[in-house]
Amino acid sequence: MNPPSATTGRKVCFMTGASGRLGSEMALAVAGKGYTVFFTWHNSHEHAREMLEKIQWISPESRMVRCNVSRPKEIQAAFQEFRKHFDRLDLLIASASNFYRTPLGEVTEEEWDSLVDTNLKGTFFTMQEGAAIMRLQPFVSRIITMADISADLVWENFAPYTVSKSGVVHLTKIFAKSCAPTILVNSIAPGTITLNPEKDMDSPDTMASSIPLKRIGEALDIVKTLHFLIESDYITGQVIRVDGGRMLQ
Ligand SMILES: NC(=O)c1ccc[n+]([C@@H]2O[C@H](COP(=O)([O-])OP(=O)(O)OC[C@H]3O[C@@H](n4cnc5c(N)ncnc54)[C@H](OP(=O)(O)O)[C@@H]3O)[C@@H](O)[C@H]2O)c1
Repeated sequence: MNPPSATTGRKVCFMTGASGRLGSEMALAVAGKGYTVFFTWHNSHEHAREMLEKIQWISPESRMVRCNVSRPKEIQAAFQEFRKHFDRLDLLIASASNFYRTPLGEVTEEEWDSLVDTNLKGTFFTMQEGAAIMRLQPFVSRIITMADISADLVWENFAPYTVSKSGVVHLTKIFAKSCAPTILVNSIAPGTITLNPEKDMDSPDTMASSIPLKRIGEALDIVKTLHFLIESDYITGQVIRVDGGRMLQ
């Protein structure tokens, strides 16, 4: 069992994207597991403030900071701020992500950069900064990345997004090998959890009928997987698909 923090008496989690739809449920779940949560937001200030209030009900030392993860300097600044308040890092969750339609043949450099820089470059530099802290700690810590089942699908209208998530899968394996044996690095690859009108043209019922487990996923399905990975001691470099069996085709 890891010793608690000298400054807070609790384990500490750094998380990007905690203002997101799944991200906010994950942040609350981690707080519920006894972690102090230091999280980043980018554009959703109001939602982030509400989130912080909710998290602080469970975990009063929790904090947030603004950070554009597509800029490594801002990630470094966020970690500097983190270090001012906390003397340990038990769990890093890299969840910040951009997602929108980019039909092949019409993809602009700006779109490519905003998707790949946020999802892939941002995840890489977040992992690199977090691992630098974790490597010095004499106890087991964990990194969890957020991929997507589309990393293994051919979605012609989402190439920059799916490429970025394929990259996240690969980064997960590289860091898992490099950071063993004290840092366990795994990824969660959700299927359809929250519906997106830009992508999900079919009705929820039609979509659910094409999934072997006959329902669209819920945030709780992701939270349960997160709990499993936080508790696991002998799993690293893995990507867990949480998709109701959708990839069984
Ligand atoms: N929801 C799903 O069904 C689903 C399916 C497959 C994979 N996933 C993956 O699961 C993870 C969590 O999903 P979600 O539903 O919480 O996503 P979401 O609702 O789209 O939220 C995205 C999060 O990323 C942050 N973000 C976006 N651009 C950023 C930037 N440049 N710098 C810093 N933060 C940035 C947003 O912050 P602000 O709002 O503050 O700007 C927000 O917190 C993501 O990695 C996503 O790709 C989700």
